[in-house]
Amino acid sequence: MNPGQFETIIIETDLLILGGGMAACGAAFEAAHWAKQHNLKVTVVDKAAMERSGAVAMGLSAINLYLGLKNGKNTIEDYVKYVKNDLMGITRGDLVANIARHVDSSVHLFEKWGLPIWKDEEGNYVNEGRWQIMIHGESYKNIVSEAAKNALKELGDNGKYYERIFITEPIMDGDRCVGAAGFSVRENKFYIFKAKAVLDVMGGAVHIFRPRSVGEGLGRSWYPPFNSGASAYFTLKAGAEMTCQEVRFVPVRFKDSYGPVGAWFLLFKAKATNAKGEDYMVTRAAELEKWAPYGTAKPTPANLRNYLMMQEVEEGNGPIYMRTDEAIKEVVANIPDEKQAKRKLKELESEAWEDFLDMTISQALNWAAHNIMPEETPSEIAACEPYFISSHSGASGAWISGPEDLAKGDKFWGYANMSTVKGLFAAGDASGASSHKFSSGSFTEGRIAAKSALAFCVDFPDPVSFDETKIEVLKNRILQPLLTFETHKEFANDVDVNPNFIKPKMFMFRLQKIMDEYAGGASVGFKTSKALLEKGLEFLQYMKEDSEKLAASDLNELMRCWENVHRMWQAESHIRTILFREETRWPGYYFRTDYPEMKDEWECFANCKWNPETGEWEMKRREIEEF
Ligand code: ADX
Repeated sequence: MNPGQFETIIIETDLLILGGGMAACGAAFEAAHWAKQHNLKVTVVDKAAMERSGAVAMGLSAINLYLGLKNGKNTIEDYVKYVKNDLMGITRGDLVANIARHVDSSVHLFEKWGLPIWKDEEGNYVNEGRWQIMIHGESYKNIVSEAAKNALKELGDNGKYYERIFITEPIMDGDRCVGAAGFSVRENKFYIFKAKAVLDVMGGAVHIFRPRSVGEGLGRSWYPPFNSGASAYFTLKAGAEMTCQEVRFVPVRFKDSYGPVGAWFLLFKAKATNAKGEDYMVTRAAELEKWAPYGTAKPTPANLRNYLMMQEVEEGNGPIYMRTDEAIKEVVANIPDEKQAKRKLKELESEAWEDFLDMTISQALNWAAHNIMPEETPSEIAACEPYFISSHSGASGAWISGPEDLAKGDKFWGYANMSTVKGLFAAGDASGASSHKFSSGSFTEGRIAAKSALAFCVDFPDPVSFDETKIEVLKNRILQPLLTFETHKEFANDVDVNPNFIKPKMFMFRLQKIMDEYAGGASVGFKTSKALLEKGLEFLQYMKEDSEKLAASDLNELMRCWENVHRMWQAESHIRTILFREETRWPGYYFRTDYPEMKDEWECFANCKWNPETGEWEMKRREIEEF
């Protein structure tokens, strides 16, 4: 396939929303409202199909962020405190509070659109934990994306969505982002989107570290494998400042199929133990003192819950079990009436299976395949490989402006959720330092960012321009892997082994090996050091050189090529930021063996920025404002 055979399509819009997940849907829904008032155009571009794209694609069994403010149960301040504690102090209170104060209304919209939320006898939502509510959520994403598409359709010609288009690069006019370039993964079409404001909501990143899943399980991960670092790449390449690139997330999940643990820990009140039946959160409680004040607060931060478990594994005390059997027995034992107890047992059993069927169907298959009955058999849990995500208990993403009324110090610069690059906004997993937004908070942050980005469009109404002669250069560069393959494919009789090029899968394996062994992946017990990180960085530079030789036999592989370039950039910013932060702050996510303690002087954000003009990386600390 030759780049010359590709049609170039140029699309002009006011607000360009890149992504199709929860944040993109929230953005589209909110943008439609404000765009109508100002007669502005809104365009959404998704690499997949919005019905099933992004982290909520498979569905969810709970909405993990709902404050219930109108019931007076929780306050925004309580929530900010909880998030800050879970992230060992490294959090933007202004961003977290901005989402928290609006999130309930998003959840009420989901219900209005048809999402079934569990209710108790009085008609109240059933809480899983303090901040989490239970849902019948297999079709959660379909319901939300339908509403987003309907909102766009109401704009008529001013509301458009494009699916199956992979966004590759930002388009800049000097220091302002004015669009994006990409290609169709179904047709020979190259796209240029021109926009007054661009909202980056392309999700987090998976498969940067070597996964635990191999062979027939390869591709299985906790977070969707299709999220491959496009968000971070886009903001980095535009020259935006990034934050918390060191704060990876390592979830503990039901082993091998990555089933959710939240319902077991919070709703069913199950315990996790080592093979001897010891509750390591009790037997190892003294370890938490070392990480005070966060380690001793309640709930224990996710990374420290991981850490205590990892210590058990390291000492050979595995397997680690979720005691589903004991939890269920305990609930039933408290019911004196035998008939009622039996009914409750059936109910719990079906809730347990639904938890998986709603969001991680393969975990239900895993139970069936291994003859596991949760009411009788405990299940293995394990720490996954690291992911980059700021919607759960990770925090990586773009450094964005807070809202004018909440942001203090240097944390506000004109438009909420705008990155340090003019016209470029971020939300969901693309914006950093505001964790625990989950599905509802990502949707809400998308709404906030879209409203703000449209205000920017109103303030800067002139049509955007950029050097159009660069389009051909960009097109040739983006499509180059197709040409590389075409030119050299006959050289060897195996397309995966050819001295003239590297296929994206092999490239990904190489990246994962580097990250796993040098940057503290699962195979080295999440440990790393300056010497290891510097070696990893050196290998990454060779990868960067070799990325010029990526080869694609078709459009799908062309997407895989660029996904891996995106991953490589996310990886580099991660290594550089771990190196910069000379302490261990999140044991259980990663451990710096050369700096094994948490230090007061590092109670700050570690930010990084790649300079598009010089190609140099700049690292800097940013203060945490009291909230
Ligand atoms: S899910 O995305 O797969 O559903 P997960 O199972 O980690 O998430 O947890 C759901 C929610 O419960 C999240 O808000 C998480 O922070 C919280 N959670 C999970 N386990 C615990 C625990 N042991 N203690 C406190 N909170 C927990």
